[in-house]
Amino acid sequence: MQFKVAVLPGDGIGLEVAAEGVKVLQAIGNKYGHTFNLQYGLIGGIAIDEEGTALSADTIKMCKSSNAVLLGAVGGPKWDDPQAKVRPEDGLLELRKKLGLFANLRPVKVFPMLVDGTNLKPEVIKGVDFIFIRELTGGLYFGKPKKRWETSRGRKAVDSMVYSEQEIERIVRVGFELAKGRGKKLISVDKANVLESSRLWRQVAMEVAKEYPDIELEHMLVDSCAMRIIQNPKYLDVLVTENTFGDILTDEASMLAGSMGMLSSASLAGVPKNGVNIFGMYEPIHGSAPRRAGLNMANPIATILSVAMMLRYSFGLVKEAQAVENAVDQVLLDGYRTYDIMDEGKTKVGTKEMGDLIADKSGG
Ligand code: IPM
Ligand code: MG
Repeated sequence: MQFKVAVLPGDGIGLEVAAEGVKVLQAIGNKYGHTFNLQYGLIGGIAIDEEGTALSADTIKMCKSSNAVLLGAVGGPKWDDPQAKVRPEDGLLELRKKLGLFANLRPVKVFPMLVDGTNLKPEVIKGVDFIFIRELTGGLYFGKPKKRWETSRGRKAVDSMVYSEQEIERIVRVGFELAKGRGKKLISVDKANVLESSRLWRQVAMEVAKEYPDIELEHMLVDSCAMRIIQNPKYLDVLVTENTFGDILTDEASMLAGSMGMLSSASLAGVPKNGVNIFGMYEPIHGSAPRRAGLNMANPIATILSVAMMLRYSFGLVKEAQAVENAVDQVLLDGYRTYDIMDEGKTKVGTKEMGDLIADKSGG
């Protein structure tokens, strides 16, 4: 089969990890007889420098004409001035919005071979396997008013957490659909004891739940969820939550897996159901790590696992996705580690070497 993939490496280590994701995609193409036509574009800081905007109209067009988007990372100290008119992150947020990518899937899986290398007790994290569904185009990130202004008594600023019932309904539905194929339980994370938008969220979740009588719905407050992630992460299976809550909780949860460099994500424009291919953007959950950039150090596994998600959700290539996931397992079992997951007695490799090893196993 033929697929068009837009590749936006972005900034910092984004360039290096995206290259390894592409390497693995090509290896899969060669082995299984698929053609992935790649088109490259700029986003983030590099786009500000070269095109004067964090996301150009051409890049948006290119993404819209593709079957999926692979993204590295955006941002860096060069563009971090709080007074700046345009920020690299604006490009990413605009792209998510323009492409209608409302459902951000972030699986949190603890690899058995990395259990001893984390800060947490092995008995707490062994076997952890859950997935966050983060609402990605609404909530506190996008709500209006959102501004800064001067008053006679000093400066003020506001962000707003806004949700319509339609936005809540479609994201909660993603949660129920995924729960069907997993443990038949959905945890909806909110702050309904304080926030009005969370009370609507909770109410809509209960309404949608009526259509899924086989799935148990549990409500969990976001602060309590933050605690659960550390205290008893095995309790968690499928969770659905607001944009900002999901941003924060998934960074926290990544520490169960040992490193941000292990967590992949899929941002989808529809509800994933069996056999339906959905347009999506695939990116690691980590940032551009400017201090590690250009050193062939970064862990490409999060990006490579994001490629596996692309194969599964946007192309319906389940066998191929599994091949990539198995290759990652095998390379870790063989003892290869990037610096962030390095442990005693293991073999330290760089970004490219890790990519080569996984590409070889995926396509071999
Ligand atoms: C993420 C990142 C982004 C976000 C940034 C880079 C805008 O932290 O994907 O989690 O906040 O959504
Ligand atoms: Mg984040």
